[in-house]
Parts: sequence; C-alpha cells; structure tokens
Amino acid sequence: MSKRFYITTAIDYVNGQPHLGHAYEKIIADVIARARRSLGQEVFFLTGLDEHGQKVQQAAQAEKKNPQDYCDALAVDWQNFAKKLELTNDDFVRTTQPRHKEFVQATLTKLNEAGHFYQASYTGYYSAKEETFLTEKDRLPDGKFDPSYGEVVELKEDNYYFKLGAQQQWLIDYIEANPDFISPSYRRNEVLGFLKNNTLEDLCISRPLARLNWGIPLPFDQEFVTYVWFDALVNYTSIAHAHPELGLWPADIHIIGKDIVKFHAVYWPIMLKAMGLPLPKQILVHGFWQKDGARISKSTGNVVDPVAIINEWGVDAFRFYVLRELDIGPDGNWTEAGFRSRYQAELGNGLGNLVNRSLSMLKRYRNGVVPARSNELAADAAKAADETRALFQQSQLQSALQSIWGLVNRANKYVDETAPFKLAKDPAQAQRLDEVLYNLAESCRVLAVLLNPFLPGTSAKIYAQLGLTGLPDKLAEATWGGLPAGHTIGEPAPLFPRKEV
Ligand code: MSP
Repeated sequence: MSKRFYITTAIDYVNGQPHLGHAYEKIIADVIARARRSLGQEVFFLTGLDEHGQKVQQAAQAEKKNPQDYCDALAVDWQNFAKKLELTNDDFVRTTQPRHKEFVQATLTKLNEAGHFYQASYTGYYSAKEETFLTEKDRLPDGKFDPSYGEVVELKEDNYYFKLGAQQQWLIDYIEANPDFISPSYRRNEVLGFLKNNTLEDLCISRPLARLNWGIPLPFDQEFVTYVWFDALVNYTSIAHAHPELGLWPADIHIIGKDIVKFHAVYWPIMLKAMGLPLPKQILVHGFWQKDGARISKSTGNVVDPVAIINEWGVDAFRFYVLRELDIGPDGNWTEAGFRSRYQAELGNGLGNLVNRSLSMLKRYRNGVVPARSNELAADAAKAADETRALFQQSQLQSALQSIWGLVNRANKYVDETAPFKLAKDPAQAQRLDEVLYNLAESCRVLAVLLNPFLPGTSAKIYAQLGLTGLPDKLAEATWGGLPAGHTIGEPAPLFPRKEV
C-alpha cells in the first residue's frame, strides 16, 4: 500500500477571528485532500492553531485574560469555523497541547546535545509588533524603520542560536535538484535568489522570560522560552509523531501563504536535516487576497467575513468562488460584484440550471425513468474526467474547475441544440428524446463526481436528485455509462436559488 498522503496548512495565530485569507488556505488544502481521496489515496489532512508567542500574549493581555484561557475560548471558534468550511481535516493541532509541547522539547534537547545551538549576547533594534530584531537593511532611505514595524526599541539580550552558516549550500543544491519542492516556480526562484545573494544569519531560537513568558520552556535553560516559529514549524512533525501507526512523515504538501515562505523553505528544511528527518515533498505557496483593491485590515474595516457570506450564499458558493477566482500563486481581489456574478453565471445559470432542467425534463417526459444508454456526450465527459484527474494530481484546482465547466457549458449548449421541449411534442421523435435525456442525466452524474472535492454538498444533492445512494466521492466513477437504464431518479430541486438584489 502506498504511504498516506499527508497535507498540512499553516497554523493560524489565535489573536482574533478567522478571515478570508485563513479560509482560502484551508479550502485549498481541503479540496486537495478530498481530491486525493477521490483518486483512491489514503489521506491525512492537518490544520490547527499557533497559540504561543508575543502576538497571542498581547492579544490575551488586551482582553485581561490569561493566555491559556484566551486560547481555549478562541480555539472553539476556530474549530467551529473549520466545520463551517466543511473541512475534512483528520486532526486539529493546538500548539499548547502536551503532545506538541513534549515533542518540541524533545527536539530541542536532541539538537542541543548534537551541538546545533550556542548562547550569545546581541544588541539590536527590536520590533515588538513583528517580534523580530531589525537590521540595517530594514531601514528606509531616511534612516527610519517602516511604520509597519510599529515601535522599534534598542535591546540587548542573551539568547540561544541555531547555527545555520554551514547549511546554505546543500539547501541551494537541494532546491535546484528538486524543481517541485517550492511551487509556483517564481517563489522557488525568489528563495534561490535569497540564498545565493545573502549569508544566512544564525537563527535565534529562544526568548528571555523577561520579554516573553508565553511559550514552551527551553528544556536546557529555564530562563528562556522557545521562539514561536521554532515551536510552530515543529507541529508538522509533532502531529505525525502522535500517529506513529500511520507513518506520516515526510509530508507531501505544506500549503502556506507567500508571507511565510522563508520560514518554510529555509529554516524548516534546515531544522529537519538537523533532526535527521527527510524534507517535505512540496511547499505550495498561495497569494494574498485583497478586498476592493486594498489590503484586508480589521483596523480600516476592509474585511470579508466568511461566516456571513456562507450564511447568506452557502458554503459551496464560497468554496467555489475563492478557488475559481484565484489560482494558487498570484494575489486576488474580492469584490461583492465579482462574487455575485460568478454565483449567478456559473453556479446558478450554469451548473444549477443544467441539473435542474435535465432532471425536470426526465421527470416530466419519462416519469423519471432513465432511458437506454446513449453516448453523444461521452467524449466530452471523458475529456473533463481525464483532465480533472491529471489536474488533481498537480494540485491545479482552478484549471480543474475550468475543465469541469467545459462539460457544464457543453451540456447546456446541447440542451439548446437538441431542444428536448420541442422533441417532446412530436411522438415520432421519442427515441431522439430518450437519447438526449440520457446524455443529460449521465452528464449530471459525471459532474457530481468531478465536483465532489470542490462542492461536496452540491455534489451529494445532485446524486440524491438522481436517486443514487452513497456519495459521488470516487473519481473512478466518473466513467460514462454509470446510470443504468430503467433506474428511477429522485426529486429535482434548484441547487443555487436566484437571489434578488
Ligand atoms: N502562525 C503563523 C504560521 C505558522 S505555520 C507553522 C502565521 N499565522 S497567520 O494567522 O498570520 O497566517 C496564517 C496563514 O494565513 C498564512 O499562510 C498566511 O499567509 C495566510 N494569510 C493571512 N492573510 C492572508 C490573506 N489576506 N490572503 C491569503 N492568505 C493570507 O503566519
């Protein structure tokens, strides 16, 4: 049996409520997970929360709560959010869980004993907002630091450092030898450019208790807690370790946003090599959403509330829009008009109308009984299924949707060309009407199978309206001819009701 396909998302900071960017990343991961299951692979999908560090500590302080209580309360919201998005995650990590903390400490002990760390004192300019020391390179031409760093203060600290110097060349060689390791390729080129043109500075992996106490204590020095990024990255392996029977590591795909590439494509591989573990097969980097052409920001009120959208339009419409609108890689722009337009054109008038008129006509003209097999749309369906299969294997979700809509549009055009409502009026055309009705109903069945990873609820509804039992969750069933003659379908009902503006 092949190894389980292990896919992860970034773990989100619990310093507020989830927004569009978080939702988008988790939906990408969920669709890839469902697509792999549909291909017949065993999958383990991990998502969760990053609960330590300054950002979370400050957010808890602002609400006058102790950080653990603060995280416990918010974690409930985030787990409900995962359900709202209909994620099929197999586990949900919280970095304050003992299973994670113990693994982080064991990792630190091992690396310390192997001589990867040293202690040193450092004086520099520190941005509390970004939780990082800034360097001369971070200064603007006028000598100041960008306001986005917030208040910057001079600070002297003793800390523990992870030696990175000797690691640069093998990592460059590895990235060059493994073109799919970082995707898309322009992100890979950025990482290579960074590694070739800079000398890696050793990574500070501790924070003195005096500055930050919300973290995992260093096992070899109780005066320090672990740097939040060291703690957070290790989640991918601590949870693999928590399911030893599944043999999860190495991960197949880490899904992350473009702002955290350096942590995943530079520090994480070096950490793994020091831990004696193989590298993940791929780091898949998505872009950032804006709203109405501007940065999403709580302080300016420029936000998209995924829960409100889902409550109004349904989770499938939300999942569809984010993946159809934006390919994995570039940045995207959410507009209300764009969302409504895709809802109406592609879901309502496209898929919804096809299924509804196909099944309604079968009901009306043939009492819901499927006629003998006909193969007029078989080649179109096979094309969509073959393309979808290949695109799923490449995690090319936007292209897969385009390919599937190739079949939606072909079948809708077929209704217009064959005009079954006219055929129904002419008894001499009964056989022709049988053929048309079969092709339409069978196209709907194939579409339910292809769409399942993207629109699980809609896909299940199409299956139920076709009177089929079970779920359309195996791509192998997208083969033409699955609807048997003589089968009676269920009740047609609109999938994407029209919304009055
Ligand atoms: N806690 C770290 C990740 C640790 S992974 C070991 C973190 N958390 S975050 O909450 O700030 O971001 C979580 C994910 O959401 C990141 O992959 C980030 O890129 C993504 N996004 C945050 N805002 C986004 C948009 N506006 N658009 C798309 N994705 C965005 O970073």
